[in-house]
Amino acid sequence: MEETSAAVLKNTAELEAFRIKYLGTKGAMKDIFDAFKEVPNENKKEYGQLLNVLKSHVEQVFNQHKEALENLDEGAVHDFDLSMPGIPLDIGARHPINIIKNEMIEIFARIGFSVAEGPEIEDDWHNFTALNTPEDHPARDMQDTFYINKNTLLRTHTSPVQIRLMETQAPPIRVITPGRVYRNETISARAHCTFHQVEGLYINDNVSFADLKQTLLYFAKEMFGQKVEIRLRPSFFPFTEPSAELDITCFICDRKGCPVCKGSGWVEIGGCGMVDPSVLENCKIDHEKYTGFAFGMGIERITLLKYGIDDIRLFYENDVRFLKQFTS
Ligand code: DAH
Repeated sequence: MEETSAAVLKNTAELEAFRIKYLGTKGAMKDIFDAFKEVPNENKKEYGQLLNVLKSHVEQVFNQHKEALENLDEGAVHDFDLSMPGIPLDIGARHPINIIKNEMIEIFARIGFSVAEGPEIEDDWHNFTALNTPEDHPARDMQDTFYINKNTLLRTHTSPVQIRLMETQAPPIRVITPGRVYRNETISARAHCTFHQVEGLYINDNVSFADLKQTLLYFAKEMFGQKVEIRLRPSFFPFTEPSAELDITCFICDRKGCPVCKGSGWVEIGGCGMVDPSVLENCKIDHEKYTGFAFGMGIERITLLKYGIDDIRLFYENDVRFLKQFTS
């Protein structure tokens, strides 16, 4: 009895072995019943009763094990093959826009720029007025800007963060401000209604255009390689004076001319200039004492160039076959 009670049966095969050993036609119970035949008649009653108790005990033990095994999900617990390869964890990849954004943050951090952010829902003052953008400027047009109401809009650039910083901090200010911006553009391979910019701002005494140029040259070489050169083309932005467009040499064709640089050997990556004194004044910064430079670059543009991608829409489609190709 003790032997059968102590039995540990882990699966149906062991249960069957138990059955054969004790209850089978050649099992232990059969042997005991055979031996019973030899017992003298006067003892048969006593032995018979004991034998029945033993038999029903063994049957009970068998049935209990059988029931317990039936209640178990045998497939999960007992047929578990430890040597099987595991289910691979699908590890995500960083979005290419974020990879480049982080790289830009790192490059500028090395020359003392910290990071600031501002709201994507802006007011007219920060997005336009304080940035010297006049009432009749085309950027204010309903065609270019998503208005929430007359005074509230989705920011069209990251330049309003400049204003928020200058309103709340005293110079020196040396920051970059990465973030998402919105424009009411027709979506195509080259333009989207939402994209990302990195704005840069440096305000201090004696900041010159040469500082701006050196900063941008340093960035371009760190980002695209030491062979890259920059070119500043005179341009116009309401919030900078003088203003320039920033071009880099096309590293895809090594300046020979290709579809990316449209045969010119140069590609534009942003705008820049010296902060207009009236913008400093709007932020109550003494423009007699302080000067500064600012720049704004499109992260998509830099990412397209760096990875040789030819369609901006790929960034927003969330196709994992595209996204998985990037590692940081
Ligand atoms: N905000 C401009 C744009 O979205 C880019 C820009 C140009 C930013 C010149 C600047 C700047 O800070 O100085 O097109």
